[in-house]
Amino acid sequence: MTAPLDLHSPDFLRKPDEGLAMLRSQGQLVRMKLPIIGEVWVTTDFDTARELLVDAENFVRNPANAGGLSLEQNYWWFPRFIHPLFRNVTLMDGEDLQRLRRLVIGAFSSRGIDAMKPAIERIADELLDALPQDREIDLVDRFNRRFPMLVICELLGIPEEDRPKIQRWMEPLGRVSNPFTVFRALPGLYHSNRYFRRDFETVRRTGRPGLIKELVEARDGNDKLNDDELLAMVTAIFIGGFDTTTHLIGNCFMTLLTDPTLAASLQEDLKRVNLFIEEVLRFHSPVMFTNMFHATGPVKLGGRMLERGDRVVPLLIGANRDPAKFDGATTFQADRKPNKHLDFGIGVHMCIGTQLARAEATVAVNRLFTKYPDVHLTQPADRVPMLKRIGLRGVAEMPVRVTR
Ligand code: HEM
Repeated sequence: MTAPLDLHSPDFLRKPDEGLAMLRSQGQLVRMKLPIIGEVWVTTDFDTARELLVDAENFVRNPANAGGLSLEQNYWWFPRFIHPLFRNVTLMDGEDLQRLRRLVIGAFSSRGIDAMKPAIERIADELLDALPQDREIDLVDRFNRRFPMLVICELLGIPEEDRPKIQRWMEPLGRVSNPFTVFRALPGLYHSNRYFRRDFETVRRTGRPGLIKELVEARDGNDKLNDDELLAMVTAIFIGGFDTTTHLIGNCFMTLLTDPTLAASLQEDLKRVNLFIEEVLRFHSPVMFTNMFHATGPVKLGGRMLERGDRVVPLLIGANRDPAKFDGATTFQADRKPNKHLDFGIGVHMCIGTQLARAEATVAVNRLFTKYPDVHLTQPADRVPMLKRIGLRGVAEMPVRVTR
């Protein structure tokens, strides 16, 4: 039986615990219909989600490795320029995946991200200083969306003058909520593909610094990335790092805007900001679930036998709010420690942008409340509309007023 729960309904997004408890009462693995993806098995608790994520032998991303058609075969009708993007890290397995990750992981290390800290702070300050004062503004539009996008451009080394158009091309990807909106994202992807293919040549010629240069020059023995792989990686970085961080920041802001005492206490003790951000990742789960996996053979998961080719999705929000794993799972505890949530995933596909996302959220929280201590919502929090976007949890708008 398919569980009759809509993970993208405003009711579930606002108060997920009742729905999650209902799912768990049906088993560790339930059938569910997800937008675009269709009917799949979904994990409901922490242990089953973790078991799925760490078992790269029995669960793969590329359906061709589980007896199905490859994405290129399945989606042959997609425009030709999209096909190289199917071969990106999130959809690869085994040695192909390890190879791509090895080539990029250095740039995302703590050291790499520490070096970016001043640039991240500068970008945040510029956006916050430009906020119109003494009238209602939408912080999602003015800051939460622009900030991670500009940080990714900075990371990649994209020239300042090209950033507004990259932002315009990539934005629609952040609005995909059904098959129709996928098509709205195609023109932007077409332009960004053309731009980046030319840009790889420019970087090879000029040695312009940034992650694009590191990727273009990355070598593992004689191995290097070809232009299709470079393009797939750059696009995966935008898709993986833009909207996710927007809604981590949004959830941090909403929590603090509705709890001014907590906001003030964090400003006095900045070390607690790290714990706060981990709890926002756990409790709000800006990424509710990951891409789906395909079972490679008959395999037992969550007390059920799955067949080769069966499709399974780990429900991160179910894992993160599992009362069997977290004490007081349904309450927000800003100082929670330990806090081994799964919102960055785990295993071979674990997020490569964890340090960058944490750095951005830290800077955003510190800077907004330092610059504008009286920032406040101009509408009751329960009237702020929730975002409708596959797999993400956050607010669509954040009406606030700021004064210095
Ligand atoms: C709050 C912020 C973020 C969250 C919650 C998050 C969460 C995740 C999760 C759950 C995965 C695993 C997806 C899967 O298994 O399908 C993932 C993968 C990934 N993330 Fe993040 N992410 C965040 C920020 C970022 C940032 C800032 C970047 C880069 C700029 C990034 C780049 C990626 C990439 C490239 C992958 C694919 C890794 C792979 O499949 O091997 N993410 N992320």
